[in-house]
Amino acid sequence: MTDPEIREAVREMLLANTHEGWSRKFKTGFCYIQPSPGTYPYQYFWDTCLHVFILTGLGEYELARKNMLSLFAMQEADGFVGHMLFWSRPLPAKWTDFFQGRPSRDLLRPHMSALVQPPLVAQTVQRIYEGTQDRQFLETMVPKLKRYFDWLGTNRDFDCDGLLSIITPFESGMDWKPTFDEAVGFDHGIANRRLFWKVVRVDARNFFHRYNLATLYRKNHFLVKEVGFNTIYAQNLVAMADLCDALEDPDAARYRDLSRKVVGAMIEHMYDDESAAFYDIHARSNQKIRVLTPTILFPLVIRDLPREIGAALIDRHLFKEEEFAATFPIPSVAKNDPSFDPQESEYLWRGPTWVFYNWFIYQCLYYRDYKTEAAVLRDTIRELIGKSGFREYYNPFTGEGYGARDFTWSGLVVDMLNIDGGASAEPTTDGQ
Ligand code: GLC
Repeated sequence: MTDPEIREAVREMLLANTHEGWSRKFKTGFCYIQPSPGTYPYQYFWDTCLHVFILTGLGEYELARKNMLSLFAMQEADGFVGHMLFWSRPLPAKWTDFFQGRPSRDLLRPHMSALVQPPLVAQTVQRIYEGTQDRQFLETMVPKLKRYFDWLGTNRDFDCDGLLSIITPFESGMDWKPTFDEAVGFDHGIANRRLFWKVVRVDARNFFHRYNLATLYRKNHFLVKEVGFNTIYAQNLVAMADLCDALEDPDAARYRDLSRKVVGAMIEHMYDDESAAFYDIHARSNQKIRVLTPTILFPLVIRDLPREIGAALIDRHLFKEEEFAATFPIPSVAKNDPSFDPQESEYLWRGPTWVFYNWFIYQCLYYRDYKTEAAVLRDTIRELIGKSGFREYYNPFTGEGYGARDFTWSGLVVDMLNIDGGASAEPTTDGQ
């Protein structure tokens, strides 16, 4: 497929997956894109953000705007927005998702989960604003974003060190990431049904504690400060500051200071100098969980991360033969980790290549001037789409497509192509 063909195919898929309607319950129209109509029919928090990255990359600003407005249409008075919005029904269809629902006496009320997802929302509003200069949109969105980020800080920074905790693996958006094995009590290794039950148990317990955060902190069944979530948080606090600046709102300084505090805490608690990696940590003890997944590299995206840390992360891990080298990189856990399994299974993030990781690390590498390495990650996705279509994840050695079909996230390739016009990678020595 040529690049223009890829762009058109992505546009077609996003438009085909667009779902619009009227909610009688909330007395508002809604518009969102289903990540995969067969597998994921709801409006998801961070998927909506990724869709906005793609839509703005395609010049579809109006649709992008509508998606963001719908995402915040059910925002609670305290600022909370759940990670799944069920526009057409009060509760999710899958029984396991039921435990992620918001306990409520009014069974017809919830329409939204009780979980959060990585907060990319300030960057997406920024993208729309940059492309449209629509000040009215900005004035509508910034107060909502402020309430959202303030909710996160107030409710999830339990020990006031700046870092946010997640209360279930699902909040990371990387549900079966092998780092969480230790935190859910699964013997670290190849996934099996026991892992499934361990993770469902986390959600069931949270549900039975009615998602009361003070209780969950006290019980400490699953509380993790995750690198991906916190990196995205730090990045989006900077975007919040920029948005406030655009409105001459003095809160800009508050968000910028908070972002610095988060990055400082990440370096202090998550970074391990000896192995050159950022690790997820147990929230109550700040103890590191030493599993090598692509999120060890995520803080590279933070512009003022010290250069020597950035260089160490890249030189020590990226494309290193026994860790993340593959025909179609980047595998979702290091090849030498006991949990690594490149085949299709319901437990993604334990071997197969996942487009989000490529997209995220692509930006890090590109802006740090590792352009050749960045291009490898972009060209991988281009090739995978050509070979196996828009799939949820892919075998890192054969390129076979797995999981959901017509999966929108593969469309992130549009954003990667836009960043540098899509010139092909120079061949690297190990033939990738
Ligand atoms: C899976 C992923 C989550 C994503 C959702 C919809 O549940 O874990 O990150 O938001 O699918 O694509």
